[in-house]
Amino acid sequence: MNTEALGLDSRAVHAGRADLTGLGVHVPPIDLSSTYPLPDVEAGGEAYEQMASGQARGEGQTPVYQRLWSPTVARFEEALAALEGAEAGVAFASGMAALSATLLACVSAGAPHVVAVRPLYGGSDHLLATGLLGTRVTWADADHVADAIEEDTGLVVVETPANPTLDLVDLRALCEQAGDVPVLVDNTFATPVLQRPLEHGASLVLHSVTKFLAGHGDVLGGVVATSAAWAGRIRPVRAVTGAIMHPLSGYLAHRGLQTLPVRVRAQQEGAQVVAGWLTAHTDVARVYYPGTEGADPAGLVGTQMTGPGAVLAFDLGSYDRARRVAEGVRMITHAVSLGGVDSLVQHPAALTHRPVAEEARPGAGILRLSVGLEAPEDIVADLERALQA
Ligand SMILES: Cc1ncc(COP(=O)(O)O)c(C=O)c1O
Repeated sequence: MNTEALGLDSRAVHAGRADLTGLGVHVPPIDLSSTYPLPDVEAGGEAYEQMASGQARGEGQTPVYQRLWSPTVARFEEALAALEGAEAGVAFASGMAALSATLLACVSAGAPHVVAVRPLYGGSDHLLATGLLGTRVTWADADHVADAIEEDTGLVVVETPANPTLDLVDLRALCEQAGDVPVLVDNTFATPVLQRPLEHGASLVLHSVTKFLAGHGDVLGGVVATSAAWAGRIRPVRAVTGAIMHPLSGYLAHRGLQTLPVRVRAQQEGAQVVAGWLTAHTDVARVYYPGTEGADPAGLVGTQMTGPGAVLAFDLGSYDRARRVAEGVRMITHAVSLGGVDSLVQHPAALTHRPVAEEARPGAGILRLSVGLEAPEDIVADLERALQA
């Protein structure tokens, strides 16, 4: 069925599955083929040309080779695009592969300059700061993006809420400043359940699928949701660099989307309880969470976002105290990553944001907590015990 008329929750359940009844199956088949039998040389060559040049696979056309097209991954791409309100999705082996392909598409189009708003995920910051892919970065405050744009600026990169301190950026204002320059929004923390950046003027939405979208800590993946034209620019980079998502990950990520709305809302409810408890705790110097008082002066929660999300950070005042709490939890796992059904805590300055330049690195006393589906009172009890230890 066409899911366009459905609300987000129903889309999440049904998108990318329109042909299943016709196939006589209830769940999507997993197609692990690395190569495909070709009907004849002419048709094979045409299909190759079409997908290598960035177009989507045609109806009934051979996928030719998994690096060009995976029918299982394409279902996930279609479903995620439906949730973000995008024309297309292009899925990758990781979130970093998704960002890399987008940057390379800009470089190869002769627009290697990137304006980026900090904070960003440490890996994204590192990739831009090193210029490894031939990009040149100017770091700008969200309010000064217009001043940073140059003739060869190919992209504005922003994360909101940002990793790890949950800073919010007004996307409509930022996109206005960017003018004709496309804006890429890393929507990993919010997910399309809480925020759909394309509705606020962005051109590209990036996700680390590894996090909320797949949601169970068993998938590494990335995706870009965008226009058909941009997808056509990114797919050829994915094909030549070999960065496509694995079909098994595509299947799991597609399945993860079905429960995304309920997971995100339930985890957000837990996060609100934990954030409130941390805010009242005398040993906690500061809580970073868009739902706490004063954290959202522009009122973006309720306008740009429908809720504050399920990730928060808190400052314990010193590296030593933060280290002891990260190492002291028992039910919560001390591990990087976020957005899964179980709670994870980690020390950004030592881990996820370690490669970030010192002046932009999060404080040594800060821990990031991804709140899972456990009962909030159990999360609070685990934190309290670790704080007292
Ligand atoms: C906000 C954000 N963007 C991108 C990434 C990179 O994604 P991946 O680890 O799937 O390559 C991460 C990973 O932690 C992230 O938190």
